[in-house]
Amino acid sequence: MRFHIMTLFPEIFNSYMSESIMKRAVEKEIIEVYVYNIRDFSTNKHKKVDDYPFGGGAGMVMTPQPIYDTYKHIIDTHNIKEPRVIYLTPKGKVHNQTIAQEFSQIDDVILLCGHYEGVDQRIIDLIVTDEISIGDYVLTGGELPALILIDSISRLIPGVLNQNESFEEESFKDNLLEYPHYTRPREFNNLEVPDVLLSGNHKNIEKWRHDESVRITKERRPDLYKKACK
Ligand code: ADE
Repeated sequence: MRFHIMTLFPEIFNSYMSESIMKRAVEKEIIEVYVYNIRDFSTNKHKKVDDYPFGGGAGMVMTPQPIYDTYKHIIDTHNIKEPRVIYLTPKGKVHNQTIAQEFSQIDDVILLCGHYEGVDQRIIDLIVTDEISIGDYVLTGGELPALILIDSISRLIPGVLNQNESFEEESFKDNLLEYPHYTRPREFNNLEVPDVLLSGNHKNIEKWRHDESVRITKERRPDLYKKACK
């Protein structure tokens, strides 16, 4: 799978993609990450990429030309026939595990990171297919949200996680949050590991984990719990 990132701050992506599971996924060539500096595509003699909003008001708006030319460059050089372009914005659909699953099936995903007050609406009308938010709060730009999307999508692609890191039994499976985990030692600061986990009785362990998942989901996420009961 190939990720194409359009950004004004390409450096942000280098360190995250060079560590741990993301690094391994890139090395194994399961994912490819291409980062494009929108400023490089500006035809303005000062490489300007933003301007004042028509109608007045605070802040600057990213101009359409450099973004559109970056997009054209991406689809032409990678021969992308039906581009999926995600614009990261607090106005978008809130990201979740189902959306991550859906994108993990796509060969090329183009991510547009906005800054300042956002991008000119005509860019959204012309090239954006999906507007995604990572939650109900406002960040200074779309770079962290883009990394969150890339991470959540990549780990669902076969081969990215190894067996020990498997996502078979994690939060949001069947709309339940995950049960608590324990490891050595058996006692820590007077707190003990629940007996059932030491019993070796797999049926009882499975039941305890499921019951804990239900209890935690009901307590913390009544919205998910309702879905889980359906
Ligand atoms: N850009 C700024 N805030 C954002 C958010 N919450 N989600 C996605 N992109 C953003």
